[in-house]
Amino acid sequence: AILLVGASWLLARILARIYAYYKFRCHLRCFPQPLRESWFWGHMHVAKWKHLASEGSARLDMFEHISLMTLDSLQKCVFSFESNCQEHPSDYIAAILELSSLVVRRQRQPLQYWDLLYRLTSAGQRFRRACDLVHGFTDAVIRERRCALARQGAHDFLEAKAKAKTLDFIDILLLAKDKDAKELSDEDIRAEADTFMFEGHDTTASGLSWVLYNLAKHPEYQERCRQEVQEVLRGRESEEVEWDDLAQLPFLTMCLKESLRLHPPVVGIARSCAQDVVLPDDRVIPKGAICIISIFGIHHNPSVWPDPEVYDPFRFDPENSQKRSPLAFIPFSVGSRNCIGQTFAMAEMKVALAMTLLRFRVLPDAAEPRRKPELILRAEGGLWLRVEPLSARAQ
Ligand code: HEM
Repeated sequence: AILLVGASWLLARILARIYAYYKFRCHLRCFPQPLRESWFWGHMHVAKWKHLASEGSARLDMFEHISLMTLDSLQKCVFSFESNCQEHPSDYIAAILELSSLVVRRQRQPLQYWDLLYRLTSAGQRFRRACDLVHGFTDAVIRERRCALARQGAHDFLEAKAKAKTLDFIDILLLAKDKDAKELSDEDIRAEADTFMFEGHDTTASGLSWVLYNLAKHPEYQERCRQEVQEVLRGRESEEVEWDDLAQLPFLTMCLKESLRLHPPVVGIARSCAQDVVLPDDRVIPKGAICIISIFGIHHNPSVWPDPEVYDPFRFDPENSQKRSPLAFIPFSVGSRNCIGQTFAMAEMKVALAMTLLRFRVLPDAAEPRRKPELILRAEGGLWLRVEPLSARAQ
């Protein structure tokens, strides 16, 4: 799911940058800034967790719950669609989850790499059905939006969306033109939207699950983050984290970054060498060679990160960060094919973490999780933690 192939990646990158730095902040209705009602509240697992934890504390698999939240929020940001999948089963979300797990299983079966053979297997048939369902959903949204666009005309369409703050990713793609002033085809739009749905849910869910684990293991850091959030929200009528608040959470950000170092959601990337690369010991990686670069390995290199297995957020104290190479910490990769969703991901993780800590105490489970690197970094059998509502105010 981490691959975006074909000629459209450049376009996707340009669009995503605009989306991340401008439209996203000003117009997305699901993010906290424009709305009084936070996308998180009642949207994230809060109500569900409270119910589950009503008898004291609940033992929950973070991946299961948080993946539903990240899918829910992506579906809102990409399509303006409210599936309520955290409360009720959704066929679309079930299909995305099924596709992600089928891709991992197929990876382990070299015989099934052959499309013709894969199509004949029961997994291949399930894959086809899930793909059809996901494509059908995206196609229906595009059709409906094209009709609205034709009815209203581009100017009024954009004006109405901007006013209601409901411009979403599909709208941006519909209105986009390439360098020859040509619009994107429905197929292009579908490919970009589906890519975002796949790239964006598992990775962010992994990042959030592991930071909650690390803070459960270090209650002193958890408490400091909670106090920071409480301080930012002090005196407000509502407990919403707004866009500008995200810059006022330096310690929480340090905790998040240290977690992305220790448990990077994407553990490695592959690159083909465009030219000979001379290593410091004079050995040469020849042009054309495919290299697997371990993000996990770089983040655990003891010559860069002393005591690499220790969770220490102060490594990301701005003073300490300045002393390190910018390539020592690369959870979103670097270079021209780095992650285009990183602004989105960091914002989403900060808001979700802040709102969770404001309402719940997170405690470790009796059994220590074992890391399980798949397409993303998971935990064997799920990442189980205990959550406890904080106070009567949180009830
Ligand atoms: C903590 C969360 C995330 C992490 C750690 C992460 C990490 C990465 C990494 C390492 C890559 C490079 C992959 C490679 O070179 O093979 C990548 C690419 C990508 N990511 Fe993310 N990502 C995250 C969240 C997101 C989100 C939320 C979105 C979209 C909403 C997204 C969209 C993409 C896309 C489209 C690419 C492909 C870019 C290209 O090939 O030009 N990611 N991501």
